[in-house]
Amino acid sequence: MSATYEKLMKCYASLRELTDFKPQLALVLGSGLGGFADTIRVAQRISYHAIDGFPTSTVEGHKGQFVLGYVDAVPVVVMQGRVHYYEGYDMQDVVLPIRLMKLMGAEVLMVTNASGGIRDTFHAGDLMLIRDQIASFVPSPLRGANLEELGTRFPDMTEAYDPKLRRIIRAVAIQQDIPLQVGTYLQFAGPQFETPAEIRMAKALGADAVGMSTACEVIAARHMGMRVCGISCVSNLAAGLSGGPLLHEDVQKSADEAAPRFEKLVYHSIIAIAKSM
Ligand code: HPA
Repeated sequence: MSATYEKLMKCYASLRELTDFKPQLALVLGSGLGGFADTIRVAQRISYHAIDGFPTSTVEGHKGQFVLGYVDAVPVVVMQGRVHYYEGYDMQDVVLPIRLMKLMGAEVLMVTNASGGIRDTFHAGDLMLIRDQIASFVPSPLRGANLEELGTRFPDMTEAYDPKLRRIIRAVAIQQDIPLQVGTYLQFAGPQFETPAEIRMAKALGADAVGMSTACEVIAARHMGMRVCGISCVSNLAAGLSGGPLLHEDVQKSADEAAPRFEKLVYHSIIAIAKSM
């Protein structure tokens, strides 16, 4: 057995000693969206520290715990605080929580994040449905011997973000009167924000927004056959597009301002997605 798989199984065994909860959907909360976990009917909270071998996060403002509970009647596992590659973890560790949530039973993964907006029509505070992604600037979490127990060697990424789920989220946005952009998300390794030249490159490559998470997690989820959807909060215009420097506090602040809209969209999308399953 590979070390990565062994570690995953150890975490899973440790988690199963703490809960027998079976989620239908897994949700990863990005910066500024952490408060969403308080809006669900909580059954149990499990600190990442309580899970043997679990990679724990160091970033300020990221509470590290799984929240198990219900959005309306939908059983969900929520990651309040994710693990970032820029913190120094191997990619295998970054995606371990995603794999764990699939093992728990989640068939759908909803990812959220904050991003820098590139497309000309984007403004700080916009929400963007992720249509596709560019993960070419970070190592693949699938590098190394394939974990046959989890999935195939060469997973298809043609429809990484499930078209049916995307349609559902767009319909919910219209229904709830929440403006929703659509675009391609590009993951850089970070932690430094990009240079204006890197943003021009990302734009030329077809990216609409950039961030430091998510794409690698989506690869791991697709490897395991999860259906994936994602929403990004464009918390700022990307480097060189707003005239000023990028500050983490500003990013946090506008993510916080967008949070009520973001939470409403996520909440109703989860219900609509579960109904379609
Ligand atoms: N760049 C990268 N990551 C980000 C940004 C950005 O401009 N904003 C929020 N996360």
